[in-house]
Amino acid sequence: MTITDPPVTDSLAEDGATAFDQLIDRVRAEFDTQFTWDYGRGRDGLNRLYEKAKRSQWNVSDDLDWSTDVDPERMIRLQAEATGVPAGFPARSLLDVKGSPVASWDDDQWVDFAVHSQCASLSQFLHGEQGALLCTARLVEAVPWIEAKYYGSTQVVDEARHVEAFARYLDEKMPTTYPINENLKSLLDTVLTDERWDLVYLGMQVVIEGLALAAFGMMLGTTQEPLLKQMLRYVMADEARHVAFGILSLREIYDDLPADEFRLRQEFAYEACDRMRRRTLNAELWPHFGIDNADIEAALPGREAQQRFQHILFSKIVPNCKKLGLLDHRDGWLRERFQEMNIIQFEDWENTAEALNLEGRVEDSEAPTSFDPDALEGVEVIDDPIHASRTD
Ligand SMILES: [Fe+2]
Ligand SMILES: [Fe+2]
Repeated sequence: MTITDPPVTDSLAEDGATAFDQLIDRVRAEFDTQFTWDYGRGRDGLNRLYEKAKRSQWNVSDDLDWSTDVDPERMIRLQAEATGVPAGFPARSLLDVKGSPVASWDDDQWVDFAVHSQCASLSQFLHGEQGALLCTARLVEAVPWIEAKYYGSTQVVDEARHVEAFARYLDEKMPTTYPINENLKSLLDTVLTDERWDLVYLGMQVVIEGLALAAFGMMLGTTQEPLLKQMLRYVMADEARHVAFGILSLREIYDDLPADEFRLRQEFAYEACDRMRRRTLNAELWPHFGIDNADIEAALPGREAQQRFQHILFSKIVPNCKKLGLLDHRDGWLRERFQEMNIIQFEDWENTAEALNLEGRVEDSEAPTSFDPDALEGVEVIDDPIHASRTD
């Protein structure tokens, strides 16, 4: 796999570090690993989620059709044809900006840009999946409840599978892989270095995975490439459980959290959303086309197309924050921030725990069934990213 622009050499670097060392990124953390001697299982939502997870395992090697021939440029042209959305959306709206660095780009250049934009999105999915793998492994160690350790262990396997799937797709089917976006990396570092394990849930399960679920839904709704569609459907079914895991777990501890501590969680949720909003500007992508990120940061956030695209990405996070009580605590501090971000309109959309029907008891649930990829719960397709965030 090629990762564009890494500081890697084949020979020994001056300080003696090998190429392998240069690909390793260490984050030092201090936190409590917790045993529990309480093996009782009184948390029905988590038990039910664990049962779903055990019945829903799949295999990247066997269940996806890797013989599918993928032509990235054709994929982009077909997508534009099928959706009526021109290649390069929403960045293409920069064509209307006076003095824009893309003013002279023709359709072929936009198709090339869209191929790389797809690579950049899939690359961030890949790196985010690795972040999820590490965060979930942390949760298995740090949470004090046996039900959460059981469920978390299934998520570790899920996330390893997702890393494997995106890495293989990028390596075998796409022209390049981009490095991790600095906003995503800084959020992952923050989450992994904090000793409070509930922030791992809030940063990863609620914000990063909530955004990923919407981004996957949007890609699933627009791409015409059969292998990518198949892969996204499988991954999304897993991700819906992961987001629900965060909501079920956090609801329990947030019920008893002192007001000043809860306030810190509101601020953390906002900061995490803000970093993910900055991530959507794709800073790792533009220099590949000789364009300065400062020009993009000055022009793109103000474009209506970019704003609509960005807003829909938060459609999962906002109702889940509401379900956790984060919106209205402290005179609605987070509600105001989400109003400023223009994403509050999603507050009454279905939250992910409701979508998976996890409120009942395990023994009330339907008889175990085999895994059916055509009837996946929690897979919501977003096939109209231009209009989906409108409330009118
Ligand atoms: Fe994942
Ligand atoms: Fe996940």
